Amino acid sequence: VNSESVSLCPLSTPAATEQEMLCIFGTGDLGRSLGQRLFQTGYKVVYGSRRPHSCGPLPPGTQAMSHVAAAQSARLVFVCIHRENYNFLETLAPQLKGKVLVDVSNNLKKNMYPEANAEYLQRLIPGAQVVKGFNTLSAWALQNGPSDASRQVYVCGNSLEAKQAVIEVATKLGFTVLDRGSLTAARELEDFPLQLFPEWRLPLQLATGLTAFFFFYLLIRDVIYSYVVNDKDISFRIMASLANKVFPIVSLIMLSLCYLPGVIAAFLQLYRGTKYKRFPDWLDRWMLCRKQLGLVALALASLHVLYTLIIPIRYYVRYRLAAHTISQIKENKTSPFDTTMAWRTDSYYVIGILGFGLYLLLGITSLPSVSNVLSWREFSFIQSKLGYLTLFFCTFHTYLYGWDKFLQPSSYKWFMLPGYMLSLVVPSVVLVLKLLLLLPCVDSTLTRIRQAFLCLCVR
Ligand code: HEM
Repeated sequence: VNSESVSLCPLSTPAATEQEMLCIFGTGDLGRSLGQRLFQTGYKVVYGSRRPHSCGPLPPGTQAMSHVAAAQSARLVFVCIHRENYNFLETLAPQLKGKVLVDVSNNLKKNMYPEANAEYLQRLIPGAQVVKGFNTLSAWALQNGPSDASRQVYVCGNSLEAKQAVIEVATKLGFTVLDRGSLTAARELEDFPLQLFPEWRLPLQLATGLTAFFFFYLLIRDVIYSYVVNDKDISFRIMASLANKVFPIVSLIMLSLCYLPGVIAAFLQLYRGTKYKRFPDWLDRWMLCRKQLGLVALALASLHVLYTLIIPIRYYVRYRLAAHTISQIKENKTSPFDTTMAWRTDSYYVIGILGFGLYLLLGITSLPSVSNVLSWREFSFIQSKLGYLTLFFCTFHTYLYGWDKFLQPSSYKWFMLPGYMLSLVVPSVVLVLKLLLLLPCVDSTLTRIRQAFLCLCVR
């Protein structure tokens, strides 16, 4: 690192005492945003363009030249043009010899070309040192800077020196750089921006599938049953009552699915007697999306809480309450105070509130900005111990809600179990299995397996 170029000034002010010239090929959105950012950070920026005099508005402070002149004036050239137009770069091979070419391109689809864009560029200009980088940033992210967007920049390339030069620029721009190795990683980097919430896909698919299943299940069981058997149209219940069953049911199942893989993993370790054997792929993938599973479940639980808040103001509820009161007045009758009912309702509301409070805590602590400041012990205490407590509260809330309905034959319409009973199956299994794992003899065996070092196992 050139000691003269190190500055203690804030990144947004010109940082280099001796301004380094950087070249950008391409005056599109990305090229212009990158140029503006580089200029603001203290670099001199020159654009290489086919038509330097009519290439449209450029960021103030930058200039445009022909490709040849621009390439000659800088050591580092950002190639911000589409891969389809790379061919013409071959004619610039003499000027680009020994230069660092930063390939920032992306494709519209995966596997569009047999080789990665950066590898193709390297093949076209073998005398240059190609580095793949910056392609995961949008023009918007570049313009607004890392405070307002993703901080990470991935780079890969075959020349350590070239990579170091690009890393230096990215660091000055305020980004965190992750070196992904040689240029063979370029395809992986080029696929990154094409990913659409990859780790959210499974949890969202699961949530959609479960929601659809329970919606139709409860539609048949509650609404259609009432229409067919009692000749009563209660379809209005779809809006609030049905939704306020489906959301908490799916939430509870998904919460328990966050903890099921951990329990399965523990039993696998117990069975195998070692932690040094890989888990099956499906279990690995399941474990990796637990955070997203939990956050989707939290969103659904929040909907349940909001739906619950509107219960007292619903027309149907107010009508039923008024009708009941009027009929009591007419019959000159007062229902006696039911202490059991008071205990039951208060208990399940309160347990629900406690469960939801802990649920929120789990959600908040899973956010990177919060989890980054927690020690591993603190994080695992919250996510594991308090996590199981959350699952216990939410499950208990649902059992209390069911109360004696488990024993009433009228609950089993058309031999279909009420939705909440179905929702209790997985959480109950997870809690029972966890309880088994907490038995002193099982717990100590598991701790021994987990604390074992490889050398001891080999011995
Ligand atoms: C049912 C309240 C949090 C799971 C209910 C019901 C109420 C309620 C009033 C009955 C709804 C009805 O009659 O249709 C609350 C309150 C909460 C809370 C006040 C916290 C502020 C939670 C949480 C979960 C949960 C965190 C876990 C995911 C359930 C389930 C049902 C239920 C599964 C049964 C749904 C059904 O089939 O009717 N809750 N709840 N609740 N709650 Fe909660």
